[in-house]
Amino acid sequence: MRILSGIQPSGSLHLGNFFGMMKPSIELTAQGEAYYFIANYHSMTSLFDAGQRRSNSLEVALDFLACGLDPKVAVFFKQSDVPEVTELTWMLSTLTPMGLLERCHSYKDKTARGISPNHGLFAYPVLMAADILLYDSNVVPVGRDQKQHVEVTRDIAIKFNEQYGQVFVIPEPRIRDDVAVVPGTDGQKMSKSYGNTIELFGEEKAIRKKIMGIVMDSRSPAEPKPDADQNIAIQLLKLVAPEAVAKDFEDRLRAGGLGYGDLKKGLFENYWECFSAARVKRAELAANLDYVTEILSKGAERARGVAAEVLQRAKRACGLD
Ligand code: ADP
Ligand code: TRP
Repeated sequence: MRILSGIQPSGSLHLGNFFGMMKPSIELTAQGEAYYFIANYHSMTSLFDAGQRRSNSLEVALDFLACGLDPKVAVFFKQSDVPEVTELTWMLSTLTPMGLLERCHSYKDKTARGISPNHGLFAYPVLMAADILLYDSNVVPVGRDQKQHVEVTRDIAIKFNEQYGQVFVIPEPRIRDDVAVVPGTDGQKMSKSYGNTIELFGEEKAIRKKIMGIVMDSRSPAEPKPDADQNIAIQLLKLVAPEAVAKDFEDRLRAGGLGYGDLKKGLFENYWECFSAARVKRAELAANLDYVTEILSKGAERARGVAAEVLQRAKRACGLD
């Protein structure tokens, strides 16, 4: 089984990225051949600062490796180091109906939030389809917001295969229900663009402040809270704390007597502990950037090997070669 996923270098990675995409991706590496990449071409649709793209890409690499991605097990690379993907994007785009892209939520959401509606932003799912199809991927671990893009990929691949013969493997999204949508500090989906994130490797004081600022209602500590499972801090605790600890907080909140301040303090402590080993590892990696660059360039070399073969197959099928 081949597993593939990508993440954009568009800002500091947060708990939503980790539990929605990175952790499931890292765990899946035990079940097949994994290809994970930093989607820097994708980031060009909404980030226009070259220096920031470069530094974010490095940060994402550090974050992913610090969180336990083993470069001996997974092929880890930067998207633009395999430029074959842009060639395949063009080929796929000629079989992509406009209506298919017009229906994509992500484009509508992003333009509604003020990102300029450039062609790349609109055509973004075709580049993502090329990412997936270029490696004969079977499984794509992503958060729920990316499901539609994997469905678009399937539609394009089926169309291509019908038109030009069996070229592409039809991929499947892999979405873990328990972490499909990680809530942010305001209760909406945690997202860089909503300003409601808890970063994986933020500065202690800043993160503590964010966690203490999680929006709660005005019920008194003594009041029992039958809806304890809906509480944002409880939902986050279930992700970062051992099961028994999260359950204890939830039970105490439900029964009444646990104040929101103490709950948030508990969340901060468990969050900090959850990433403490990764924090140490990240500092080690940051002090050894040559090693990180080397991982990415070796990854790119391996990825290009597979990409070249699949691209060749596609070119032959459609009469380019
Ligand atoms: P953001 O919304 O912060 O810009 P991205 O769109 O770059 O995040 O997401 C990168 C990966 O992380 C995707 O697979 C996405 O589904 C996942 N992801 C992001 N935010 C969340 C969240 N709040 N809950 C679950 N998964 C998420
Ligand atoms: N579009 C994805 C996101 O914003 C990132 C991505 C690009 C991706 N190419 C991919 C994810 C291929 C999975 C497979 O999160």
